[in-house]
Amino acid sequence: MENFFISTAISYTNGPPHMGHAYEVIAADVIARFKRLEGKNVFFVTGTDEHGLKVQQKANKLNISPQALADQMSENFIKMGQALNCSNNDFIRTSEERHKKAVKEIWLRMRKKGDIYLDDYSGWYSLRDEAFYQESELTKDNLGNFLSPNNTPVEWVEEKSYFFRLSEYEDKLLNLYKENDNFLQPKSRMNEVRNFVQTGLKDISISRKGLEWGIEVPDDKDHSIYVWVDALTNYISALQWPDTKNLYNDFWPGDLHLVGKDIIRFHAVFWPAFLLSAGLEIPKQIFAHGFILNKGEKMSKSLGNIEDPMSLVKTFGVDQLRYFLMRETPFGSDGNYSDELLINRVNADLSNDLGNLSQRCLTMVKKNCNQSIPQKNELNKIDLDLLNSVDLKKSNITHLMENFQINSYISEVFELISNTNKYFSDQKPWDLKKLDENRMNTVLWVTCEMLRRVGILLQPVIPSGSSKLLDFLCIDINHRLIDFLSNDFALNPGDPIKDPEIIFPKIDLIK
Ligand code: ME8
Ligand code: MG
Repeated sequence: MENFFISTAISYTNGPPHMGHAYEVIAADVIARFKRLEGKNVFFVTGTDEHGLKVQQKANKLNISPQALADQMSENFIKMGQALNCSNNDFIRTSEERHKKAVKEIWLRMRKKGDIYLDDYSGWYSLRDEAFYQESELTKDNLGNFLSPNNTPVEWVEEKSYFFRLSEYEDKLLNLYKENDNFLQPKSRMNEVRNFVQTGLKDISISRKGLEWGIEVPDDKDHSIYVWVDALTNYISALQWPDTKNLYNDFWPGDLHLVGKDIIRFHAVFWPAFLLSAGLEIPKQIFAHGFILNKGEKMSKSLGNIEDPMSLVKTFGVDQLRYFLMRETPFGSDGNYSDELLINRVNADLSNDLGNLSQRCLTMVKKNCNQSIPQKNELNKIDLDLLNSVDLKKSNITHLMENFQINSYISEVFELISNTNKYFSDQKPWDLKKLDENRMNTVLWVTCEMLRRVGILLQPVIPSGSSKLLDFLCIDINHRLIDFLSNDFALNPGDPIKDPEIIFPKIDLIK
């Protein structure tokens, strides 16, 4: 079986999870579930980034220890993942011993390579990004204060610091991008990063002096390891590295790091350089997604426009939220969230197109076919064209997912649903009941079979609704992979079906 590793960024524990975090982990889950659907052995990891000044300051403000804050918040992130029906295999916390061990080890390897040295640092630091910036990258706000490229405030820092010889890796990185043009997706992001590296890399500071809430620099207790060296290492500490026998051996180099567009540099420049320095393999691919906006503005705590994903799940349902976030916006672009947009989308697609079709068809089957899969008689061209359209689309659909075009994948599947709806209303099985019962049975069989196929394809996106649909049809739990789409596994007339229920009730417009 082919292995596949996928990760999300790990979230800071200075605040509770918000829609941006939900969006990222849902997208990763859709991809992970799709790979499993293809029969792959998937390791999907997410987690929390618990060290650093930002978390420490927040804890100080709350008058609790950073560990207590991290315990609380990581619990919230774990609960959010469960509420969103995420199928991650592990949840890594950077305050865990297994993680600290890996971070110290990667430091020692980079030191051994001769890539770490002690010097004086002076420069700009953004606390919100936990990142150093060159003055040339900064802009000014209307008060004349410098801002980072992410529009976060920066402060001047001068301290003794350990440096990493990033400048040594310029050519190696450019080579890596050249050899693998897909290393960073979308392509426009790869161009940005390539330009950044081409303009010249400076060595970077990788320790903070006097920072209590961090992992100590080996052999120097006055310094803590820079939180990004710490955080990035989660991708291999989650695989039990430096133990290379089991998970690491199976899943590294990782197939995909899914991250937001604000942390590309860390993943596409720093992380590969650290790995090269430590003599480890580079991940195969990074995908940078866009931001979820609220009426055009980035959701953020300071703007007070944060939607709480947990309360949205309670109000609208988990499939509904997943579906909306994945369907509405091309993956890689920024997207908007509003209740109205979600309600319209869910009512039109899930309640009407999919829900009504399955309800109408399965209710007829229940009443007219002895609560079992209808008899299939001779299939005419219209029947065959509809069924064959799944086969025709299959390779294109797989290709879309391979390229992270999740929203196009979904619209392709919904085109099948809409064609099936058209078929159902054109064929009018309710009229056939009196005119030609054999034909009625055939039409119902074709419709059920189409429901089976779209049910299989929708599992990654709406796992709960599609498993209900497949349960109504009594599809064996082991027969729900992509391979089972084919005619060979088509529904058997006479097999039982379960009592259908409404899967996606219409949402009333609220407010
Ligand atoms: O950056 N829309 O953590 P984080 C979409 N700890 N995605 C968003 C978003 C929004 N409005 N806001 C944030 C960190 N994100 C580091 C990562 S990885 C080794 C360390 C995304 O809690 C963001 O882009 O600030 C990132 O991928 C993830 O949420 C965690 O953000
Ligand atoms: Mg952030």
